[in-house]
Amino acid sequence: MAQQQQRPISNRPISFLNRNGLFLLLLALLFLLGVYLPLSEAPLFLFPNRTSPSSSPSPSFVVSDWRDYSLAQAAKFVAKNGTVIVCSVSYPFLPFLNNWLISISRQKHHEKVLVIAEDYALLYKVNEKWPGHAVLIPPALDPKAAHHFGSQGFYNLTSRRPQHLLDILELGYNVMYNDVDMVWLQDPFKYLQGNHDVYFMDDMTAIKPLNHSHGLPPSRNGVTYVCSCMIFLRCTSGAKLLLKKWVEEIRAQPWSNTEAKKPHDQPAFNRALHKTTQIDVYLLPQSAFPSGGLYFKNQKWVNETKGKHVIVHNNYIVGYNNKLKRFQDFGLWLVDDHSHQSPLGKIE
Ligand SMILES: *[C@@H]1O[C@H](CO)[C@@H](O)[C@H](O)[C@H]1NC(C)=O
Ligand SMILES: *[C@@H]1O[C@H](CO)[C@@H](O)[C@H](O)[C@H]1NC(C)=O
Ligand SMILES: *[C@@H]1O[C@H](CO)[C@@H](O)[C@H](O)[C@H]1NC(C)=O
Ligand SMILES: *[C@@H]1O[C@H](CO)[C@@H](O)[C@H](O)[C@H]1NC(C)=O
Ligand SMILES: *[C@@H]1O[C@H](CO)[C@@H](O)[C@H](O)[C@H]1NC(C)=O
Repeated sequence: MAQQQQRPISNRPISFLNRNGLFLLLLALLFLLGVYLPLSEAPLFLFPNRTSPSSSPSPSFVVSDWRDYSLAQAAKFVAKNGTVIVCSVSYPFLPFLNNWLISISRQKHHEKVLVIAEDYALLYKVNEKWPGHAVLIPPALDPKAAHHFGSQGFYNLTSRRPQHLLDILELGYNVMYNDVDMVWLQDPFKYLQGNHDVYFMDDMTAIKPLNHSHGLPPSRNGVTYVCSCMIFLRCTSGAKLLLKKWVEEIRAQPWSNTEAKKPHDQPAFNRALHKTTQIDVYLLPQSAFPSGGLYFKNQKWVNETKGKHVIVHNNYIVGYNNKLKRFQDFGLWLVDDHSHQSPLGKIE
C-alpha cells in the first residue's frame, strides 16, 4: 500500500527533471554557491581536491570562518591513514614552520600536517595559503609574549601542547608531534616499528652504540632527558595515560620567574614517563634522530653516521637568529631556494 502511494510521487520529479534539466539545475546551484559563498570560504571551495574521498564532507560547507574551525573538523580534514602530523606555532616562527613543511613535503607526508596556531595571525596566514591546515584552540596567546624561550609566554605555549595532543588522541587519531625547529631528511614513519604506545628520541649528546636499547634511556640520578620535541603517539589507552600524566605534571609545577627554576615542558614529560612505567615506549635510534647537541657539534660523528639521519633538531642553541644562521650554515635552511616545495608557497 505504501509503495503504491509513493510511486506517482517519486516518478514525478524524474519526468519533470530529465537529464538536461538536472544538469542545468546543478549548474545553477554551483553558480549560486560560487557567487554567494563568503570570501573566507572561497579558498576551500576552489580546492575541493584537498579532501581525500575517505575523509567525508569538505569543510567548505561547514566552516563559516576559520575562527570557528574546530579541532575535530581540522583533524578529520588532514588525517590520512588515521594519523595526523602536528606542530604548535606562533606567528613569529612562521619561517621555521615553512622550513619544516618543505622538508616534510619532500617526504610526501605534508598532507597530514595540522598546524596548531597559537595566535590568530598565524591561523589566518596558514589557512589563506593552505586552506584547512591550521586550527586555533582558544584562548589565543599574545603573539609577542610567546617569542622568547624561557619567558612566561613561551611556557604558556609549551604547557598547552600535551592537552592538544591528548585531544587529538581522544578524537581517535595517532599523532606525530614535532617542534618546528626540526628538519626531515628521510621518512620517519619507517622507523616507527612495532606497536608501541609512544616513540621518542633522547636529548642527551653522549654517543651511543648503533645497536643501543630501545627502552627508556638510563637515567642520571633518576633524571632522563627524553626530548619532548618529537613524539609519536598511537591512539591507545597507554598513550592517553602518559599525556594525562604530563598535563598533571605541568600543572603541578606552575611558572616561576626565578632564573634558576624556570620550568619548561620537557622535565615534566620525563617525570610523566617515569610515573607511567606500565606503558609501552620505544626509544628511536640516535643515529636517525640525533639531538642538536650531537648533530651540530660533532662533525666526526655526523660523518660516521652519514646517510642514517632522519630528523635533525636545531636545539642546544639559544636565540631565533642563531638557530636560523645554524640552519643556513648546515644547508638546512630550505626557505630561500626551495619555497616551491612548500605547501605555503613563498612567504614575503
Ligand atoms: C584536482 O585533481 C585533478 C585530478 O586528480 C587535477 O588534475 C587538478 O589539477 C586538481 N586541482 C587542484 C586545484 O588541485
Ligand atoms: C598506514 O598505517 C599502517 C599501520 O600503521 C602502515 O603499516 C601503513 O604502511 C600505512 N600506509 C600508508 C600509506 O601510510
Ligand atoms: C600565561 O598564563 C597565565 C595563566 O593562565 C596568565 O596569567 C599569564 O598572563 C600568561 N602570560 C603570558 C605572557 O601569556
Ligand atoms: C651491541 O653490540 C655489541 C657488540 O656487537 C654487543 O656486545 C651488545 O650486547 C649489543 N647491545 C645490544 C643492546 O644489543
Ligand atoms: C667529515 O667529512 C668531510 C667530507 O668527507 C671531511 O671534509 C671532513 O674533514 C670530515 N670531518 C671530520 C671531523 O671527520
